[in-house]
Amino acid sequence: MASPNERVPTASELEAFRELEHQGWTDVAGGYVDRFLPLTVRTAPSLLDAVGAQAGVELLDVACGPGGVTAAAAQRGARAQGIDFSDTMVAQARRAHPELEFRAGDAEALPFDAARFDAVVCNFGVLHFAHPDRAFAEAARVLRAGGRYAFTVWDSPERALPFGLVLKAIEAHGRTDVDLPQGPPFFGYADPEVARRALEPAGFTGVRVETIPLAWRIESADFLIDAFLEGGVRTRAVLRAQTPEALASIRRGLRESIEPWRAEGGFELPAPAVLCSAHKK
Ligand SMILES: C[S@@+](CC[C@H](N)C(=O)[O-])C[C@H]1O[C@@H](n2cnc3c(N)ncnc32)[C@H](O)[C@@H]1O
Repeated sequence: MASPNERVPTASELEAFRELEHQGWTDVAGGYVDRFLPLTVRTAPSLLDAVGAQAGVELLDVACGPGGVTAAAAQRGARAQGIDFSDTMVAQARRAHPELEFRAGDAEALPFDAARFDAVVCNFGVLHFAHPDRAFAEAARVLRAGGRYAFTVWDSPERALPFGLVLKAIEAHGRTDVDLPQGPPFFGYADPEVARRALEPAGFTGVRVETIPLAWRIESADFLIDAFLEGGVRTRAVLRAQTPEALASIRRGLRESIEPWRAEGGFELPAPAVLCSAHKK
């Protein structure tokens, strides 16, 4: 994610990318729960409003991770279940919400019959898919006509500063030419036009794109680096490829660049998310 993603990846690069993501999420499930889940679950109310999640709605949470959004949907009375391709994420979800149904499976080949759900949501999953178009087509397939779909991604790194500041620190103090399989652009769907162009051919209409203005309170710059090291995938791989000296320098650089966002007890970083929603034709 730190390298420019202008070239279209080849099929074998996308296969390697998928494997990086799969192994990554299998390795970091616990770290993700500790570091990122308290932030990511805060988009659940907007995401669930966008699909009309309420009592009786059959809802699928795709790339559910530890199941925070699935649980929020169930609390509204929806008949909610989650699916994720990482066994360790599914185990985290089952441990946290033993009363709910979670299963292992791929967003790009959902193990459900057509027209099975009223609503499908995906919270910060799309930016990790090797073939987002396949995931959109699958979401459309498992939705009934008129069913609703919504997903979130992070806004661009200029606006979502937890990403922007860390990427800039790596650029300034480390190396970005890390040999990682090329995937789709991490921030691609932050552009409303890209989302619209992807959802309509998949069978959706009425595409809406809005910003969810989150801010992330963190105690220190080191918390942020450690969050990516313990609970991320692509940025984690870039950070782990640095020499110890470069990593120390990245940490020092971030301690300086984060200063303008100092707030009581630490820092408050703008971390807006983009919410895309649509319904099946
Ligand atoms: C950033 S986490 C988001 C987890 C959860 N939705 C949340 O809001 O906290 C991304 C999740 O996507 C899952 N994921 C990535 N690619 C996937 C795929 N092709 N099929 C299913 N799950 C996938 C990962 O295992 C991981 O749990």
